[in-house]
Amino acid sequence: MNKIKQVRFSTMGNRAEDSTIVSMMSEALTKPDLLSLAAGFTDNEILPKEKITSIVDKLFLESTSSEYLQYGINQGRSKFRKLIADFFSNYPNESADYWSAENIIVTNGSQQALYLAAQILCDPGDIILVQQPSYFVMLEALKGLGVQAVSIPTFENGNINFDEFSKLITGYQLVNKIGRIKALYMVTYYANPTSQCLSLDEKKKLGNFINSLNFSLPVIEDAAYREFYFSEPYSAPSTLSLAEFKDLPVLYTGTFTKPFATGLKVGFACVTDNEWRNNILRVKAHHDFGTANFNQAIIEQLLLENTYSDHLHSIQIHYFKKMRLLDETLRSEGLNEINWNWEIPTGGLLIWLKGPDALDTSIGSEFYKSCIENNVIYVPGNLCFAHGTPLNYVRLSYGAPNNDNLVEAAKRFVSVAKTFS
Ligand SMILES: Cc1ncc(COP(=O)(O)O)c(C=O)c1O
Repeated sequence: MNKIKQVRFSTMGNRAEDSTIVSMMSEALTKPDLLSLAAGFTDNEILPKEKITSIVDKLFLESTSSEYLQYGINQGRSKFRKLIADFFSNYPNESADYWSAENIIVTNGSQQALYLAAQILCDPGDIILVQQPSYFVMLEALKGLGVQAVSIPTFENGNINFDEFSKLITGYQLVNKIGRIKALYMVTYYANPTSQCLSLDEKKKLGNFINSLNFSLPVIEDAAYREFYFSEPYSAPSTLSLAEFKDLPVLYTGTFTKPFATGLKVGFACVTDNEWRNNILRVKAHHDFGTANFNQAIIEQLLLENTYSDHLHSIQIHYFKKMRLLDETLRSEGLNEINWNWEIPTGGLLIWLKGPDALDTSIGSEFYKSCIENNVIYVPGNLCFAHGTPLNYVRLSYGAPNNDNLVEAAKRFVSVAKTFS
């Protein structure tokens, strides 16, 4: 190799691996007939083209200033942050105490907020506690940062096993590594990948458990799918509003990507701890000194007009129907008769399937290869486990495909599953 042209990377640069979902999508593009139940995309059919056109027209025609086409401020538009605080503090049982413009940072999707939150806390070798299973892109991001994701012990039904959790903490205490545990990361509403919510009782128990520890454990609550409820908002308030978390550093992330316009890529963090928030802001300034001002202005206008709830109502109905279609096709094709199980989601964009115990669905497995040969792709469930990796889970997304493709993809998936039963 020509040494003069050789690029020498940092430890982080060398550690970076391809994102699984990006690789899977690239593979998908080389097979035009492949139907994807993998990507967590939203449905192009209901992206709010008319709404955004009318908002943009309004901004251009009625506003006397073009400030929204100028750089904005690092933390995000102040009026927008205030509107976010107002909107989210209106969820059932939510308290307005921590929902304030000062606490909110507008980010490039909630993904940026999650990344910054972890980056600010962790050095390589540090630990972030996660659910099992957890959001696999976050697991990949942590790996990229050199951070170890460690699963908190749970029962089969997803509830936290506090006795085992306690033993896990004691184990780190015994080897003098408690200082390496920097945060707990949880997806609490219609989670990716399980579509489950963390109940009020579990949240309270968790808060009490963290309060009983003799070290500080900041909480990162990822609520990316909170708006995707099918009948009514999930009753448990966020950790921002629970007395059990009042004395803990909490960072809540939300987004306008999936529930409104994915391509605008606007999300936010609401951070109760001043230092944590200020440090995130410092690093965000290094990244981009502010999320796209124009994109923020569009959503600001949406919130001002008070039409976001109507929009949410229409997508909730849409995705409920798609969930039903996928669930019913899987059943009518007989997947539940060959030892596959799943819960019917009450919100979200995903169905989390448990296959027969001995089945391996991981990338490169015979099952995976057979699905690709039969032109259907899914997310292998083992990617969502920080460790322990059961191999018999599958995540299916009903977000992007149109109804015909959704039915066809489900049929293809079940026909492959039958050949492995
Ligand atoms: C659980 C979860 N959190 C956060 C994100 C990040 O989403 P965005 O950056 O679009 O807000 C996603 C995206 O799929 C997700 O599934």
